[in-house]
Amino acid sequence: MRLMGRKLLYGVIIGLIIGFAAGYFIRGMMVEAGIKELYEQISEFRRRMVVVRMAIPPLRNIAEKCGIYIGAAVERSLLDIPDYAYILKQEFNILTTENALKFGPVHPQPNVYSFGDADYIINFAESNGMRVRGHTLVWHQQLPGWVAQGKYTREEWINILREHIMTVVGRFRGRIYAWDVVNEAIADDGTLRDTVWLRNIGPEYIEMAFRWAHEADPQALLFYNDYGAEGLNAKSDAIYNLVKGLLEKGVPIHGVGLQMHISLENPPNPQEVAANIKRLNELGLEVHITEMDVRIRMPAKWEDLIKQAEIYRDILRVCLTADNCKAFVMWGFTDKYSWIPGYFSGYGAALIFDEFYAPKPAYYYIAATLIEHLTKK
Ligand code: XIL
Repeated sequence: MRLMGRKLLYGVIIGLIIGFAAGYFIRGMMVEAGIKELYEQISEFRRRMVVVRMAIPPLRNIAEKCGIYIGAAVERSLLDIPDYAYILKQEFNILTTENALKFGPVHPQPNVYSFGDADYIINFAESNGMRVRGHTLVWHQQLPGWVAQGKYTREEWINILREHIMTVVGRFRGRIYAWDVVNEAIADDGTLRDTVWLRNIGPEYIEMAFRWAHEADPQALLFYNDYGAEGLNAKSDAIYNLVKGLLEKGVPIHGVGLQMHISLENPPNPQEVAANIKRLNELGLEVHITEMDVRIRMPAKWEDLIKQAEIYRDILRVCLTADNCKAFVMWGFTDKYSWIPGYFSGYGAALIFDEFYAPKPAYYYIAATLIEHLTKK
């Protein structure tokens, strides 16, 4: 018995020594290899397992304390995917209809409206305490054939646009927090973009659209929304002049949306974005970051994800420090469903969760930036 006991004891001691030695050796290897290399070496699945979900509250809870909305663009079909719906309602308190309320999808024939997808998204938002941004009433893309190829008199064009806006905005009266009334009406050189609306109605289509939207839903905040006009350039100057002119005429406009579709190589200068938001504040206008994503040339390296996180952080900081910047909305939240790979060949990984719904560095930088803002306040 005593001999057996001693053998067992030796066995355990030797086992422990070997165990510790192996652990020490492996630890040494890990330190040497560096966490960065390890990250690259382990499989995608293992990576998901080792992502440490820090004990931070959901983004929406912190953002609310900071006085801003944080959100994402969504598609109706994706709301039935459990992981997708779960993260959305957990993390965000404002949603944008990515396609459901565009002219083509919502009004495919002269007398046919298709509200099913928008109804579903808006119901989802309401049952989860989220606001909705309606996107978009007047745009030159995703138009139905009967508008894009239509031949009408000026009066008929005006009636088409009025009826469309009154019907769509009226249908959701009181339920849409903010509308992108006019989208991308200015070209990069600062002139009015050549669109069916400009050609057939003239520049007045812009103010008409705002007036009708306001008539149909007096509570909704009405926005002009565009891309490539985040910093200071010919386009953002033209938008500034446009909205200033509208305000002087008494047109009901409440804000400017900065889309913020940007690339890792060429992000806007944060000081310029701050200056642009400030001059809009001086006009009494709100700003929403409406469609942010930061596309990366694929395959995305670890360093790229960190740089991307810094860009998200810089833009969020600018928004948090501006009194009139009230919403920070991204064009989706998971790289699994993003418009980028389909529209920018060779690019991807633009959002803050990866294609397995794991939070990326940008997610943590956003959380940390919100917390940092709260503690400074
Ligand atoms: C994109 C959608 O994400 C795509 O699904 C769709 O095929 C094309 O439009 N600026 C806008 C958005 O205002 O409406 C666009 O959305 C992206 C660029």
